[in-house]
Amino acid sequence: MEPHVSIKNLRKVFNGNGPEPVAAIDDLSLDIPQGQFLAVMGPSGSGKTTLLHLIAGLAQPTSGDVVVNGTNLATLNDHQLTLFRRQNIGVIFQSFNLIPTLTTEENILLPVLAGFHDIDKAKLDAAVTQLLERLQLDHRRNHYPDTLSGGEQQRAAIARALLIDFATDSHGSLLLADEPTGNLDSANSDIICNLLKSLCQERNHTMVVVTHEPSVANYADRVIHLKDGRIAD
Ligand SMILES: Nc1ncnc2c1ncn2[C@@H]1O[C@H](COP(=O)(O)OP(=O)(O)OP(=O)(O)O)[C@@H](O)[C@H]1O
Ligand SMILES: [Mg+2]
Repeated sequence: MEPHVSIKNLRKVFNGNGPEPVAAIDDLSLDIPQGQFLAVMGPSGSGKTTLLHLIAGLAQPTSGDVVVNGTNLATLNDHQLTLFRRQNIGVIFQSFNLIPTLTTEENILLPVLAGFHDIDKAKLDAAVTQLLERLQLDHRRNHYPDTLSGGEQQRAAIARALLIDFATDSHGSLLLADEPTGNLDSANSDIICNLLKSLCQERNHTMVVVTHEPSVANYADRVIHLKDGRIAD
């Protein structure tokens, strides 16, 4: 079977303001099979976030290819890429960006307020309830972000990132997460990792998770270490 994600000779060079261009990703090739939970580790500046952005189509490579579900991202124009991402790729960003004037529930429902998705209310309600339960946030449903702990805020942001996925009961999606458990204690980290892992197992999702934490990598089917934009062996 063809891999879910196929990366070939990928390079991303930043010219920046420094004296030398920086190859954040340097001739990297990698196949990610459908359903795999891949952890990406490596020191600060090794290219982890850059790699995630390239896979998500949020940044353009200097050279090389990213193929997702058989589609080479380089062949899509901006509009096609936006549609492709909406249908095929979910991203969990590190920053929470919860809206302070909205409750936990309303924050989780934010993706549908943007109006790109036509999902009936019963399905949305069921998805919110399911996510609140699985992220152990039921008791915070009607609370505002400034009354939530850091871990609860992060879990609410992850629930929001997974709303469409749950409401449409999608299978075989690609989910990318940049330090989803950053700065959390191990109990919070386990709640999130268990959910992400179960999405691979129950729905055949493919998960690429950037992390500094060996405890997160323990959940992964495979771990790669980046060093200077390359896979270190
Ligand atoms: N927009 C940019 N302009 C110039 N250089 C950049 C840019 N983004 C990243 N870089 C450089 O590319 C390299 C890789 O950065 P990247 O953010 O991918 O690292 P990272 O592995 O995610 O690090 P961290 O663990 O600190 O988040 C770094 O040397 C960084 O300075
Ligand atoms: Mg990073």
